[in-house]
Amino acid sequence: MDLHLTSDVAAFQAVLARLSPSDWAHVDAAMEPAAAKAAEAAPHWDFEMPARAVDAVLGASASDAVRRGLIASWALRLPDRVATLALPPEVLSLYPYWIEQLAAFLTQAEGDYDFDHWAKDVRFSLALSVPAAKSQVIDLSSPVGPGQIIKHVRDGWGFGPLFRYLKAGAKREPWLEVHTESRWLRGFNEEGWNDAWATAAEICRTRPELAGMIGSSWFYDPPLTEISPRLAHLRLNPLKGGAFMVHQGPGEIHTQRAATASASRKALIDSGEYTARSWLMVWPRKELIAWADRRKAVALV
Ligand SMILES: CC(C)(COP(=O)(O)OP(=O)(O)OC[C@H]1O[C@@H](n2cnc3c(N)ncnc32)[C@H](O)[C@@H]1OP(=O)(O)O)[C@@H](O)C(=O)NCCC(=O)NCCS
Repeated sequence: MDLHLTSDVAAFQAVLARLSPSDWAHVDAAMEPAAAKAAEAAPHWDFEMPARAVDAVLGASASDAVRRGLIASWALRLPDRVATLALPPEVLSLYPYWIEQLAAFLTQAEGDYDFDHWAKDVRFSLALSVPAAKSQVIDLSSPVGPGQIIKHVRDGWGFGPLFRYLKAGAKREPWLEVHTESRWLRGFNEEGWNDAWATAAEICRTRPELAGMIGSSWFYDPPLTEISPRLAHLRLNPLKGGAFMVHQGPGEIHTQRAATASASRKALIDSGEYTARSWLMVWPRKELIAWADRRKAVALV
């Protein structure tokens, strides 16, 4: 990956050049300690923890211009971080696209830094999450504790995931975790998601310690097969490939996200006919790699 030959370097430098001297000093002072605190927080189940850790280092007075400057500084050093990670070519080849997207976002950004974007940019610019496909990122370390599996059984959703969890090695950690990037959704389709899972399989192949890959979303909810059939592949393809699903339950954030883009889902939610529920999709490494191998074999025919 040769970021230094692209125009993105100039874009990140321009973001820094816009800073006042005191903002620049703030960025400079926070760069190293904030990166260390973010890396410490990254294995937590909460995707946003690194951003919160960075905010704690920056202090309450930090402006969004400082936050953007910090991301630009880290982005300029991203190739060096990535070089230490021994990532597979499937990930590396996505970096030019993702860095270009980030450079364009920072160049155009004004006003508030949406917290979800900030949380994603902290992880991405520090290589705590890496590109999976055009619209998906992968966290390199995420836990799956037994608590969620036990709750699934206790709440009457069946024993299946318990057996699958034990078979996958229960205490084995960490897992990869996939997330959607809402700012650039051109790969939010069946092929784009298959690409993301295939990338996760390649990372698992190069890192034997990984237990597999997880994802958590309202869009794995079984009733969507009926009410939003265009999203059914998100649940059915992993299941066909050997994943299993753990019930997480309803919640304000899931309702809000499920109702965001679809008028028909929003109407069902508003009328009480549908309650959005989040599920944890768990794809153990053995099954994930086998699925990716089959996909490659089909592509060769
Ligand atoms: C996740 C998300 C990107 C999926 O978007 P999507 O692929 O367009 O699928 P949706 O089911 O949400 O579709 C939204 C609307 O776009 C339209 N649409 C989507 N794809 C279409 C297509 N190919 N042709 C025509 N219309 C289409 C439909 O009108 C649909 O509304 P409807 O269900 O009333 O018919 C979107 O729901 C979203 O941004 N949600 C909020 C953020 C979020 O949940 N992120 C994931 C966090 S886990």
